[in-house]
Amino acid sequence: MTTPTVRDAGPDDIAAITAIYAESVAKGRGTFELEPPDEAEMAARLGAVAALGLPRLVAEMDGAVAGYAYAGPFRTRQAYRYMVEDSIYVAPWARGRGVAGALLDALIQRCEAMGLRQMVAVIGDSENLGSIALHRARGFADAGVFKAAGWKHDDWRDVVFMQRALGPGGETPPDAAGLPLVDKKRG
Ligand SMILES: CC(C)(COP(=O)(O)OP(=O)(O)OC[C@H]1O[C@@H](n2cnc3c(N)ncnc32)[C@H](O)[C@@H]1OP(=O)(O)O)[C@@H](O)C(=O)NCCC(=O)NCCS
Repeated sequence: MTTPTVRDAGPDDIAAITAIYAESVAKGRGTFELEPPDEAEMAARLGAVAALGLPRLVAEMDGAVAGYAYAGPFRTRQAYRYMVEDSIYVAPWARGRGVAGALLDALIQRCEAMGLRQMVAVIGDSENLGSIALHRARGFADAGVFKAAGWKHDDWRDVVFMQRALGPGGETPPDAAGLPLVDKKRG
């Protein structure tokens, strides 16, 4: 069976990334977004991630982009500079073949190498068994559920939090600069 190849995402991947995300916005439970963003918006989102030095990755399989992942700041106030949130989306044709696992392994490795200390998954919703299983298999622990946090496709949707330490996690003080967050003004 073909195994996925993970590499950095570049400008040529934006069309595929936009299409993969649009399918999940339209049909899936993973995101609470209701209108699929266009290519310019997705390029801007990935550009913002890159500006913070964070990884944005694609997995290729059978010569095509099968999925993508990136790490973004969990929240933008400065004390959060060692914590990131992961985002992972896989094209329907490529699911169940190890793509998300390969992407998440690489994302964790890259964030640990930056000296970041915590990764969180903010999962829509309690019935997203694939995403919950994916994160559990990579060492994420349950960190709580907000019930009926979103209304999508005529149904209330929970949001499930899961968390994993990176490197020494909270056992030692940070030994790197962390993310260059600048949100000071909104107190
Ligand atoms: C959730 C999602 C990313 C999983 O991607 P995938 O490439 O199919 O996952 P993988 O094949 O790499 O499987 C990873 C692990 O999760 C488990 N898993 C994946 N889908 C599963 C499912 N539907 N039910 C139970 N377990 C599942 C696999 O068994 C595997 O465990 P292992 O590593 O111990 O073998 C994919 O289904 C997807 O893109 N869904 C829509 C978007 C979404 O929900 N993204 C997450 C946002 S929080």
